[in-house]
Amino acid sequence: MKLADNKATLSFSNGSPSVDLPIYQGSIGPDVIDIRKLYAQTGMFTYDPGFLSTAATQSAITYIDGDKGELLYRGYPIEQLATQCDFLETCHLLLYGELPNEQAKKTFTRTVTIHTMVNEQMQFFLRGFRRDAHPMAIMTGLVGALSAFYHDSTDINNPEHREIAAIRLIAKMPTLVAMAYKYSAGQPYMYPKNALSYSGNFLHMMFATPCEDYKVSPVLERALDRIFILHADHEQNASTSTVRLCGSSGTNPFAAIAAGVACLWGPAHGGANEACLNMLEDIQRMGGVAKVGEFMNQVKDKNSGVRLMGFGHRVYKNYDPRAKLMQETCKEVLGELGLENDPLFKLAMALEKIALEDDYFVQRKLYPNVDFYSGIVQRAIGIPVSLFTAIFALARTVGWIAQLNEMIGDPEYKIGRPRQLFTGSLRRDVKPLAER
Ligand code: CMC
Repeated sequence: MKLADNKATLSFSNGSPSVDLPIYQGSIGPDVIDIRKLYAQTGMFTYDPGFLSTAATQSAITYIDGDKGELLYRGYPIEQLATQCDFLETCHLLLYGELPNEQAKKTFTRTVTIHTMVNEQMQFFLRGFRRDAHPMAIMTGLVGALSAFYHDSTDINNPEHREIAAIRLIAKMPTLVAMAYKYSAGQPYMYPKNALSYSGNFLHMMFATPCEDYKVSPVLERALDRIFILHADHEQNASTSTVRLCGSSGTNPFAAIAAGVACLWGPAHGGANEACLNMLEDIQRMGGVAKVGEFMNQVKDKNSGVRLMGFGHRVYKNYDPRAKLMQETCKEVLGELGLENDPLFKLAMALEKIALEDDYFVQRKLYPNVDFYSGIVQRAIGIPVSLFTAIFALARTVGWIAQLNEMIGDPEYKIGRPRQLFTGSLRRDVKPLAER
């Protein structure tokens, strides 16, 4: 970051001396006012619940222009990555800053591939869960438990440990998600097949059984790979900030990523894909496209508490570029599976059309986000609705780990410790129990 020529001056109406604050420029995007010395200079904190105007870090990984609807990973537009690269190339880009050349791609793919198995003990750990446990409950446990198995990669201050933890997490997430699914379905776990691609192997671990050969469909393999690319990183969102904050205490990478998984679970974040599909199914049960108007009235009624899931975003005030790509993939997958007339897809298109023309959505700049169509694609592939957020976690793991490693390597990194505006009781004394 570069110091700008100008600076900000904070003045006070009560005559306290004004304070000059440095301004820094990034390579693109809004400048930031450096308030690190504000407390020392004024005895005051800033107040910004929800981080609406606060940059908590500098980062060189992902850039979003929310007004334009642009998403860049290390400078490359998401549209180019989704159509010209595969997920592991994208992982290489996010982790190391550059797309791999042919040799580097081979080496990286091989390195990830030879780490796809998990310690055999993991399945006994999994067995402790109820069969009907939510996959995200299982995933928070399983990912945290990795730190109990891979002691040689838990020192966050050791670059070799960080490197191997990154590879292990990327390699093992598909195995863990597929194991969580097989456990709930009561089917035997399928070991990874290293001759397959990253996404092909995931489909194999999910849908193969020991009794029959399973052939990976190239269209579904490509669709899943695209889902992974589109979810791989999204700068300082809630789960990524959670990973950074958790990791800032020096905890091990598996524990920090488990914290990210837990945060992602919420319906305002990664849980929106599951919530969105449930919403579409509810409207379908109510009468489908004919009931869209009625449903929209509920959404617009602030007292109803109903939101149009898969719509709106803190940063995008334009069409989420991932939603456009996901809509394309949706058409491709439904075509491949002969489901062109899928009622939920038709319903989603009808909802989108109405929302994009409705004043409520136009005024608030609410557009479809990545979750609006991803659920329909995953459902068509055969992935159960309750597993959607786990698929998101699988894909986002590389982003979390790239951001965590970037933070540890940043000379300005400190343990994260927000301040507060205290509004509670002043000091008081404890009375004996009989007098309270
Ligand atoms: N349906 C109806 N109204 C909405 C919606 C929605 N989906 N999203 C926002 N609004 C309204 C909101 O009521 C508010 O209206 P008003 O100004 O009259 O009070 C205005 O739009 C601004 O909303 P906000 O809640 O202040 O915005 P935010 O930036 O805090 O929240 C969000 C962003 C994504 C949590 C929110 O848009 C939302 O709840 N969307 C539905 C859940 C969803 O699809 N989440 C996935 C996000 S993308 C994937 C990911 O990053 O995980």
